[in-house]
Amino acid sequence: MGFPVTRLRRLRAKENFRRLVRETHLSVDDLIYPLFVIYGRNVKQEIPSMPGIYRWSLDRLPEEIEEVAALDIPAVLLFGIPEHKDEVGSGAYDEHGIVQEAIRVIKGTAPELLVVADTCLCEYTSHGHCGLVDEEGRLLNDPTLELLQKTALSQAQAGADLIAPSDMMDGRVAALRQVLDENGFSHVPIMSYAAKYASSFYGPFRDAADSAPQFGDRRAYQMDPPNWREARREVALDLEEGADIVMVKPALAYLDVLREVREMTDLPVAAYNVSGEFSLVKAAAQNGWIDERKIVLEILTGIKRAGADIIITYFAKDLVRWLA
Ligand code: PBG
Repeated sequence: MGFPVTRLRRLRAKENFRRLVRETHLSVDDLIYPLFVIYGRNVKQEIPSMPGIYRWSLDRLPEEIEEVAALDIPAVLLFGIPEHKDEVGSGAYDEHGIVQEAIRVIKGTAPELLVVADTCLCEYTSHGHCGLVDEEGRLLNDPTLELLQKTALSQAQAGADLIAPSDMMDGRVAALRQVLDENGFSHVPIMSYAAKYASSFYGPFRDAADSAPQFGDRRAYQMDPPNWREARREVALDLEEGADIVMVKPALAYLDVLREVREMTDLPVAAYNVSGEFSLVKAAAQNGWIDERKIVLEILTGIKRAGADIIITYFAKDLVRWLA
């Protein structure tokens, strides 16, 4: 029945009506907070393109971890900046690599806080690509899988609670599941960056992690932005290979893909509100052009409404304060 019997404005008239009929709720329970860790002493270095986000040295990391734990955020996602880079990204699978050491520091500071390890080589390779590269600059899929296996295993051995491959090699979920299972880590889940696009929204992250490719780009392994059916294929393969959580990344320009993935699986779905999405908001807010708090709440609500169970966001700490 239409107007005048049906008047949708009736239930919008008072805040308590709006509360009763609200369909989407953001919660601290949804959040994963990304962190950048670096060698050195007494380092808390702000990333110029990401105001309020820092690179932390291991001795000062507990400050940040205590804050995150006090806010009751369930998990952090770790990215490391190694001391040395080489062709084979050996810092990624070094038992005493920066991420491996950071995991130990975090577990010593806040044992209940979940540590998610980003499993990729781009921060550790001299060429900045996510795997092994041949003379023609092509990324070698299957040899890279072996290095990703070594990386995930060393992260699990250091105490990582969740392994998150972000490299986009074919077959990596199966390869990581196998190496984890064979080495006594069958209890460690995998969150795959399943539909990860070759996006310009990663720019500020690459400054933060010093991981920009030194030649070419990532379009031969990350997904082509116009494609959405292909995202279904990527997700289907990761499900078959044993992923426990699937991710869509970036979030905002890919909300249709997020909804698609939500509808095709009952697994938890994560969305990564990436660095460029963060920096755009920060820059406009610093100019006084937008209301940061309201904009962030609206953006993150949109990501959740589109189907995300889990949101990885640099706004996590702010959001918890705003929700309180
Ligand atoms: C590593 C990785 C990237 C991001 C997460 N993991 C960068 C990339 O693929 O180039 C981006 C995260 C962000 O922009 O916030 N492969």
